[in-house]
Amino acid sequence: MAKSHHPLGIDIGGSGIKGAPVDLDDGVFAKERLRIDTPAESTPLAVADVVVRIAEHFKHATGGDSPIGVTLPAVVSRGVTRTAANIDQSWIGTDAAELLSTKLGRAVTVVNDADAAGVGELHYGAARGVDGLVLLATLGTGIGTALLNRGELLSNSELGHLVIDGVYAETSASSHAREKEKLSWEEWSGRLQRYFAYVEDLLWPDLIVVGGGVSKHAKQFLPLLHLRAPIVPAQLGNAAGIVGAAWLAAHE
Ligand code: BGC
Repeated sequence: MAKSHHPLGIDIGGSGIKGAPVDLDDGVFAKERLRIDTPAESTPLAVADVVVRIAEHFKHATGGDSPIGVTLPAVVSRGVTRTAANIDQSWIGTDAAELLSTKLGRAVTVVNDADAAGVGELHYGAARGVDGLVLLATLGTGIGTALLNRGELLSNSELGHLVIDGVYAETSASSHAREKEKLSWEEWSGRLQRYFAYVEDLLWPDLIVVGGGVSKHAKQFLPLLHLRAPIVPAQLGNAAGIVGAAWLAAHE
């Protein structure tokens, strides 16, 4: 790939679809990010049209032929979407990689959103250089997780769906739950403590990285958690998914 041409990362979420070309030398956006609202009916075809608009917008920076990495809030096996959180249920069973490659006329890699964020943090952020198991958890509308073992992604871990004390972890401990139930930082940290201690007893990670928008308030809640592994905020913020998706697309 010519040095001036960057892979494109696109992050599909329940409310917005965001994309930017990524400079893989430093893991930063090569151009300002573009965000377009997710269509009210977020079907594969409607979302694919937005992805095409974003790719068009950046065609000079990406040379029109560089790889594209796309994230979805879903389990994705070999390009096929197997679940759908906060997007239209018709994604389930859709070959997202094939659909988007056909629409865009070039190779597209499709990956779970938390996995993409984990890969971003692995190469450019908080998980860089860790010789062991890293658990990244994005605390947002749900809880997304990525497992990175010695630099390798173990894709599609869905540890936000653990049932703890009879409740889905993401129902009680997501950032959305904190806002909806108007929990104080202390109350919410109690739930996070239960969640991370539980996961820690199962997987024994060497490092836990907390992502999602709320990680910018890490000082309010991370010091209240007492775990065996160090627990740190993600470093790339909202850019992690886009950066990780672009990295994966370039390394397919
Ligand atoms: C989904 C995951 C996703 C996470 C964050 C969960 O509800 O099951 O696949 O990574 O939300 O969007």
